[in-house]
Amino acid sequence: MSDDRRARVDWLVAELNRHNRLYHEQNAPEIPDWEYDRLFRELEAIEAAHPGLARPDSPTRRVGSSPVAELRPFAHEVPMLSLQNGYRREEGDHTWGGPYEDLLEWERGKPERLGGLRRQLGEDAPATIHYVVEPKLDGLAMELVYDNGKLVAGGTRGDGETGEDVTHNLLTIASVPRSLRGAPEGRLAVRGEVLFDLGGFERMNNEREARGEKRFENPRNAAAGTMRQLDPELARGRPLMFFAHSAGEKLPGAATHGEVLDRFAAMGFAVNPLNRRCAGIEQVIAAVAELEARRADLPYEIDGAVVKVDDLALQGALGFVTRSPRWALAFKYPPAKVHTRLNSVLFSVGRTGAVTPVAQLEPVRVGGVTVRNASLHNEHQMVRVLGLRLGDTVEIQRAGDVIPEVVRVVPSVGRDGLSPAAYPEACPDCGHALVRELSDPKKPEMVLIRCPNTLGCPAQRLAALRHFAARGTMDIEGLGEKLLELLIARGFVSRPSDIYRLHERREELVALDRMGALSVQNLLDAIEASKQRPLERGLMALGVPSVGESTAKDLARAFRGIEAVMDASVEALDAVPGIAEPTAVGIREFFADARNREEVERLCTLGVAFVPPAAPASASLGGKTFVLTGTLPTLSRDQAKAMIEGAGGKVSGSVSKKTDFLVAGTEAGSKLDRAQELGVPVIDEQGLRALLGEST
Ligand code: IVH
Repeated sequence: MSDDRRARVDWLVAELNRHNRLYHEQNAPEIPDWEYDRLFRELEAIEAAHPGLARPDSPTRRVGSSPVAELRPFAHEVPMLSLQNGYRREEGDHTWGGPYEDLLEWERGKPERLGGLRRQLGEDAPATIHYVVEPKLDGLAMELVYDNGKLVAGGTRGDGETGEDVTHNLLTIASVPRSLRGAPEGRLAVRGEVLFDLGGFERMNNEREARGEKRFENPRNAAAGTMRQLDPELARGRPLMFFAHSAGEKLPGAATHGEVLDRFAAMGFAVNPLNRRCAGIEQVIAAVAELEARRADLPYEIDGAVVKVDDLALQGALGFVTRSPRWALAFKYPPAKVHTRLNSVLFSVGRTGAVTPVAQLEPVRVGGVTVRNASLHNEHQMVRVLGLRLGDTVEIQRAGDVIPEVVRVVPSVGRDGLSPAAYPEACPDCGHALVRELSDPKKPEMVLIRCPNTLGCPAQRLAALRHFAARGTMDIEGLGEKLLELLIARGFVSRPSDIYRLHERREELVALDRMGALSVQNLLDAIEASKQRPLERGLMALGVPSVGESTAKDLARAFRGIEAVMDASVEALDAVPGIAEPTAVGIREFFADARNREEVERLCTLGVAFVPPAAPASASLGGKTFVLTGTLPTLSRDQAKAMIEGAGGKVSGSVSKKTDFLVAGTEAGSKLDRAQELGVPVIDEQGLRALLGEST
C-alpha cells in the first residue's frame, strides 16, 4: 500500500509540475483549473497524512516558505546595470526627426554626435547587425541564483550592487522554477522581471475594496510592495509571474542572446513569447511598432521595447558607457492617453494642511489598468491652465508608476453650460475657513491654499500620523492608513506619542475588527522596534517644515541630539552647511511652539530614542573613503553606510586608488579583486567596528 502511495505521489508531483510548465511557460494548459486544483488537493492530503512522502520538488512546497524577520541584503556578483533610453517621438515634439529617429541614431550615429553602433565597431561592423527585440516589461527587476540547477536565492535590483533578499516571496510564484532541467554545473544567475497579471490585479483590487482595504494604485508598485513583505502568505495567491530576460553572468556555450533565451526556456523559465529576432534596424522598427500595436491587449504592462544586439561577441566589443551597455537600448513608448468624463473634483487635505484638487473620473481603462482619479496639481493648473468644468471630457495620461494626470480638456459643444471647477471656501474635512498664501514670491500665480487648523483638522491628523509611521520615517510595519483611521475613530490615537501607549490597551486592540492576538503582538513589536530609529528619521517623522531626508541628516550630524536641535537658535541652524535661512527660521518656529516641544518630550519619556549618529564628526574616519561589498554578518548595507557617514567618512560605489578601505562581507565579488589589485586595505565588519571605536 505504502508503495502504491509513493508511486501516486511521484505521479502527482510530475504531473502537476508538467501542467505548471504548460500553463506558465507555454501558455498552453491541457487541463482546466478545477482539474489542476483537484490533483493539487489530492497531493496536499497525502502529504499532510504522510509527511515522510513529501518530496522536495513538490508543487505544494511553493506555498510553504516561512516568514523572515527582516529583508537581508542581496549582493549582486555582477552589478545590475540600467539601460540607455530612446523615445518614440510624437508629431509636434520639438525634437521630431521621425518616430524612430532614436533607433536609427543608435545604430548609425549622427554626424554631429558621437555614438552609433556602427561608428563604435568601425571595420568590425557586420553588413547586417542582428538584434533581439523584447517587450520592456514594466515590473520589478529580479535576480535568481541557482546552484547546480537548484534555486538558492533571489533578490531585487536595489542600487544595482546590493538589493534585498526576497527568496521567501519568490518561492510563492509558480513561474519561478525551483529546479532546472539541463542547467550548467555550479552557479547560474538569471535576471528578469516580476509582474502582475492585469486581470488578476483588477480582481485583487476589487476584493480589497470589498474588504474595506485600499486599492493599489498600479501593478508595478503593488508588485514591489508584495515582494518586500516579510510574510510570504501575502504574496501567495497574488497573481504574479516572472519572465527571464538576461543572464547575470556569461552562460557557457552560448554565442547569441537569442540562444541564451532559448536555453532559459529549455531549463524551465518563462521567456516572453513576443521576443523577436531581427536582421537589421528596419526589421527592429517593424517589430517595435508591432509590439506597440499589441500593447493594450497584453495581460501585463510594458512601457516600451528593449532592443539588444544578438551576437555576444559584438556585445563584448561594444562594452559599456558608465552604467549602461552600448549594445542595448530601451525604446520607450509615449504615455498611454484616453478620454473620459470629469465627474467631480475632490479636495484632499495633506499633512501640512495644503489642499490639492483630485479629478474624480468616470472609470476608464488605460493600458490595462482602471483609472478613477487623476492629479490636477493645484488651483493654477485646474482653473487657469485647464479651465476645467464639471462634466468636461478630459484627456488623461498615465506613464508607468506615476499618478495619472489630466493633460487637457477635449473641446465639446455645450460645455459653456457647465459650471467651472472651483476651490471651496472651507476645509472639506473640518469646515475651517481656508487661507491663501504665496508659496513663491517670484511666482504670484502659485497660490498655496491651506487649512490653518493644524491640530484640530482630522484629515491633517491622519496624514501626519501616516507620515510618522511610514517606511521612510519611523517605519512602523503594519500601522497603515486603514488601521490608523480605525485607531483615530476609536479615540486610541490622536498624536504620535499615543502610538507608544498602545501596549496599555492590548485587550481592546485584540477586540477590534480584523485584529487578532497575533497581529496585535506584531504591531506592538514593530512599535517597540521603531523607538530605535536614528535622529534624522525622527526629525523627518515629526514633520518639521522643509526638513526632508538631506536636511534631517545635516541636522543630526551637526547637533547630535534631539534636545540640541530643539534648543538651537536661528543663527546656529543657519550655520549648518546645507541649511538656508528660511529653513532655519521654519525649524526654530516649529520648536518654539510649546505644543511641539511637549510632544517631543512625551515621545522621549515613552522611550523613543532619537538615536544620534555613531560618533562625533571629527572621529577617526574624517575624509576617509570606503567601499562596501558582499553581505556583512550583522549590518545591512544602509546601516554600515550610515555608521561610516555618521563618523565623517564617505561611502563610494566603486574601488579606485583613492579608496581607503574596502569593507568586504561574504560573496564579495569583483570589487574585492579590484581592491587586491590596487593594494587597497580590505577589512571585514569587525574591522569596520574597530575603526569606529566600538569594542568588539
Ligand atoms: S535587459 C544591462 N530586458 O529595465 C541591462 N531589461 O532600465 C539588462 N527590463 O530594471 C536588462 N524588460 O529589469 C532587459 N526585456 C528586458 C527588460 C528589461 C524590462 C528592465 C530591467 C531593468 C530596466 C533597465
